[in-house]
Amino acid sequence: MGTSRTGTAGAASRISVSRTGKAAPATRTGRKAPLFVSPILPLDEILVGDCIAALEKLPPESVDVVFADPPYNLQLESALTRPDHSLVDAVDDDWDKFASFADYDAFTRAWLLAVRRVMKKNATLWVIGSYHNIFRVGATLQDLDFWILNDIVWRKANPMPNFRGRRFTNAHETMIWASKGADAKSYTFHYEALKAGNEDLQMRSDWFIPLCTGEERLKGEDGKKVHPTQKPESLLARILLSSSNPGDVVLDPFFGTGTTGAVAKRLGRHFIGLERDPTYAAAARRRIDSVEPLSDLSVAAPPEKRAEIRVPFLSLIEGGYVKPGETLVDERRRHRATVRADGTLALPGNIVGSIHKVGALVQGLPACNGWTFWHVERGKALTCIDTFRAKVRETMAG
Ligand SMILES: C[S@@+](CC[C@H](N)C(=O)[O-])C[C@H]1O[C@@H](n2cnc3c(N)ncnc32)[C@H](O)[C@@H]1O
Repeated sequence: MGTSRTGTAGAASRISVSRTGKAAPATRTGRKAPLFVSPILPLDEILVGDCIAALEKLPPESVDVVFADPPYNLQLESALTRPDHSLVDAVDDDWDKFASFADYDAFTRAWLLAVRRVMKKNATLWVIGSYHNIFRVGATLQDLDFWILNDIVWRKANPMPNFRGRRFTNAHETMIWASKGADAKSYTFHYEALKAGNEDLQMRSDWFIPLCTGEERLKGEDGKKVHPTQKPESLLARILLSSSNPGDVVLDPFFGTGTTGAVAKRLGRHFIGLERDPTYAAAARRRIDSVEPLSDLSVAAPPEKRAEIRVPFLSLIEGGYVKPGETLVDERRRHRATVRADGTLALPGNIVGSIHKVGALVQGLPACNGWTFWHVERGKALTCIDTFRAKVRETMAG
């Protein structure tokens, strides 16, 4: 196996590819303490050069989310062929080669430390990998005090077969999602929105998403893939929708062809891309420039249920919206219950319970949202008690 790089040594050239695609002058830096830490974030830019050198120049605690697709260290010993002897387009690039596991671990530790410094307190980090590297990355993350929140299995809808028939079809990759530490509890996670988009079921940690193919796959003039490991945009979209907000800064230290940047722009997030190969960086710039951002309404952060102020039913009585002794009815006036002074409801036979419990009981159901089930009669009209809850909330927020 070639050992063209160790991943930890050597200087880095940093060329910023601006939105116009023009390269700014290069500067050189080593891996030791940076001479200059920029106070300004290079938002929506791609910095060409070694990611660790570039990271050291970014201001501390400045990014909201990191997505990292580092070298996998595939260790291919020989060319991979199909049964018809055609060559498989596997990753055999120099950027994926390391002399030893120790070298790979040192590289992983160095970039994770550099990333950690620029993460805001409640930022989260996603790292994607395969069995070749993800366990080593996971151990290093924990050694550096990152706190693993989940590991997500990206199940590939259309994986490459195992041509030699000596192992299982390798049909997934693993993503580790981590915060900066066990005490970083206010990280962004759009639990409710993900659930609502998943038929009201909690989003699971196994995601079934196709590989990047067809129109989405960047090809050169020769018709060949521009990059061997371009990730699908739908994978990045789910990541960013779940763990970031519009306007957030998303960092990708192994930018490749800029999948992270393209999706970030479409979803109204900022990105910072670091990539050492100028050809990939240029392809990424062209790709991102052609992306149209979605409208504000379609990407606005969803209101989180947990963020809403809790209102006890008793507050509606205290606020004069509902009176003790009054009767609540359902929308079709089939069920009735009496409001008690303490904020519970009563049914004949001295059955007492919350608006939810009594609502469920009268319908013979296991559960009920009492706020939307119960109404008060005002004249001939019915008013849902949830309307009063909204008014109380407004007063409380004010
Ligand atoms: C697995 S690929 C990322 C592909 C990317 N996610 C995409 O969708 O196109 C890893 C990328 O990291 C780059 N890379 C490797 N080592 C690097 C380093 N030390 N600094 C910056 N980029 C590096 C490689 O050139 C390669 O493009």
